[in-house]
Amino acid sequence: MEKSVIEINRLTKIYSSDSRRRVEAVKGISFSVKQGEIFGLLGPNGAGKTTTIGMLTTRVRVTSGDGHIAGVSIKDEVAVKKLIAVVPQQNNLDRSLTARENLVFHAKYFGVPKREREQKADELLEMMGLGQRQNDYVRAFSGGMAQRLMIARALMHAPEILFLDEATTGLDPQSRRLLWDKVRELNAGGQTIFLTTHYMDEADELCHCIAIMDHGKVLVMDTPTNLKKMVPGGNRIELELGEASDGLVEALKELDISGEVSRHDEADKVILSIQGDQSLIAGIMRVIQAESADIFGVRLHQVTLEDLFIHLTGRRLRE
Ligand SMILES: Nc1ncnc2c1ncn2[C@@H]1O[C@H](COP(=O)(O)OP(=O)(O)O)[C@@H](O)[C@H]1O
Ligand SMILES: [Mg+2]
Repeated sequence: MEKSVIEINRLTKIYSSDSRRRVEAVKGISFSVKQGEIFGLLGPNGAGKTTTIGMLTTRVRVTSGDGHIAGVSIKDEVAVKKLIAVVPQQNNLDRSLTARENLVFHAKYFGVPKREREQKADELLEMMGLGQRQNDYVRAFSGGMAQRLMIARALMHAPEILFLDEATTGLDPQSRRLLWDKVRELNAGGQTIFLTTHYMDEADELCHCIAIMDHGKVLVMDTPTNLKKMVPGGNRIELELGEASDGLVEALKELDISGEVSRHDEADKVILSIQGDQSLIAGIMRVIQAESADIFGVRLHQVTLEDLFIHLTGRRLRE
């Protein structure tokens, strides 16, 4: 996972078709994506994710700056189109064709020889769990099936990079999970994947590297683990106790606790908030037993990318 396959340098998009309204959708972003990784652009609606994918895949004209895909400038449309494949936000399958025909016709358009495209269609329909439905018209397909077929279609010409724009938006939880499994499986086979999402759990679970985007800018970019470390306070364990003597608080502090033990008194209980993760729970329970304290609840509060987004912007990811 070392070589960069996407390099973006001050990429900018200003929509100005309407002379009275100028929209700075992407404001000079720079980053690179490594070969073999699942890279995620995470941000709320309107952040500029689709516009960024659009510029990288030659669908949106670049205002300024530059980008390279496997060494080829995104301004070289013909060459770039062969290197990439896009699964767009909207279903754009041909409803008048069967699932298999959608794949084969696409490959034909890309000049894949007949035998190869038939074989590839078999392989991809099977992999995406659509083998049984290959001769059905796609108008009868559920959202999840359509998404999986669009991914299969995208892979028919063996792209260097697969772009997925909000691939799971609108899917039920089970179809989402299935799609995540397919994305992981593809990646395990070596496919580089560039995806966008406004779901922080999706980015967290799937991506090796995440860039958080807001109002046309990339705010931070790192692995999910490192990103979550940026949130002040970090993971916490909350104890709900009948009362908390000074002795108990002192004994807790003597555990291997790096941060604070903070105390919050309510009418009939005390909440102690301890910085740290689940590895502390066994020790905490021993202290509570030794002090014979009454305990009503233990809550693990794990930092999420949503916490990071709130920390960075003061807003929630999903308004
Ligand atoms: N074709 C267009 N013409 C004018 N403005 C656009 C166009 N496409 C997107 N925008 C605007 O650009 C900004 C970024 O949009 P988009 O890239 O679709 O964000 P995201 O995919 O993160 O939701 C938004 O303010 C959106 O309204
Ligand atoms: Mg979008």
